[in-house]
Amino acid sequence: MKVVLLAPAYPPEMPHFTRGLAELGVEVLGVGDHSVGSLPPMVKRSLHDYLQVPRIMDEADTIPRVHAWLRGREIDRIESLWEPLVLLAARLRERLGVPGMSHDAVLGFRDKQLMKERIAAAGLRVPRSRRVRSEAEVWAAAEAIGYPLILKPIAGAGSADTYRVDDRAAMERLLPRIRHVQEASCEEFVDGEEFTYDTICVDGRPVYENVAQYLPRPLIARTNEWISPVICTVRDLAQPAIRPGIELGRQVLHALGMGSGFTHMEWYRKADGEVVFGEIGCRPGGARLVDQMNYTGDVDLFREWGRAIAFGRFGGSTERLYNTAIIFKRALGQGRITRVEGLNELYRRYGRWICAVDLLPVGAQRRNWLQTLVSDGWMMIRHPEWRSALEIANAAATEVTLYAGG
Ligand SMILES: Nc1ncnc2c1ncn2[C@@H]1O[C@H](COP(=O)(O)OP(=O)(O)O)[C@@H](O)[C@H]1O
Ligand SMILES: [Mg+2]
Repeated sequence: MKVVLLAPAYPPEMPHFTRGLAELGVEVLGVGDHSVGSLPPMVKRSLHDYLQVPRIMDEADTIPRVHAWLRGREIDRIESLWEPLVLLAARLRERLGVPGMSHDAVLGFRDKQLMKERIAAAGLRVPRSRRVRSEAEVWAAAEAIGYPLILKPIAGAGSADTYRVDDRAAMERLLPRIRHVQEASCEEFVDGEEFTYDTICVDGRPVYENVAQYLPRPLIARTNEWISPVICTVRDLAQPAIRPGIELGRQVLHALGMGSGFTHMEWYRKADGEVVFGEIGCRPGGARLVDQMNYTGDVDLFREWGRAIAFGRFGGSTERLYNTAIIFKRALGQGRITRVEGLNELYRRYGRWICAVDLLPVGAQRRNWLQTLVSDGWMMIRHPEWRSALEIANAAATEVTLYAGG
């Protein structure tokens, strides 16, 4: 079994997917823009062969290079688990006649307007929305949809350039600030709680499912620096508050023609219980969500993803043992980290429930919290009871503080 994996070293989850495939006896052929020398040891160890390309994002340049490199080899799969490269993987599959999702199917997971149109056509609830490419189109869409509304890039990520707009005056103020966005989606604002629905699929059939809740909603977390955003996996997927979201998710996978691999969907639950589709990608969630799911069931989804795409099976346990929360921290002050408070006390009270801590060390330069959800570091905790998990997460969010200065 030979699998081509695009960008095996980046983002930080990818070395583990590379490792997972290799552990199953798969020959992993990597393509990326890292030099061989700068590949992490785990990747080097796991790769059978590697092609360095000058610009992996440049489809027109990369496709012929990969084609030439693979000439004469029988390739079974071509995969990418990173959003910006899922279309390139599909193009390569089509060019080389390798099985897997078509370019058109993947586009349904990448273009936020097309995905909503396809899902709505299947009779499922999506926010009312329009694709907009000019200020005139924005005004016309706002007229049709009404306020409050959401304006966001068609191919956005991490809530970048995403705005809630409450009225015409706010729209007037916003438009000059988002001229750099070429194509946007203008959407009905859906008020409610926000969740994920994550799967590993084999030929469109989920063999692993997960739900996590965002606390608070991502757009609010990204607009307020003082917040320590929390995401908590939900242990009990059978509860009535969660089932409709899972049902929606399964129907969305069907409507979009999912093949094999990871999916990461977001959905909203309104106060009246109605569930509304948010967005979906045919790749795993970032910001350590795969680790979080692994801690939820004591499984290795890095490897089980590999088994699913290469051999069409899931070999892990789907039993859910914990609610696992990740807490992202943003330091107070600018510059370098000067001290961390509250961590010892957190360990004293809840040590047995803490899975991992990865905070910036004293002396390190702060990260840009607007560019990375991981911010200045994170803590991961878990507990079999939902309320206790939230209590510990809340303690980590409010009682552990990083300070920066100088
Ligand atoms: N129609 C909507 N109604 C309410 N909130 C929305 C809507 N669209 C986006 N948001 C908010 O903005 C965030 C980012 O939007 P999303 O579509 O998930 O894009 P991305 O995560 O790719 O940046 C969402 O998590 C949600 O909090
Ligand atoms: Mg999102």
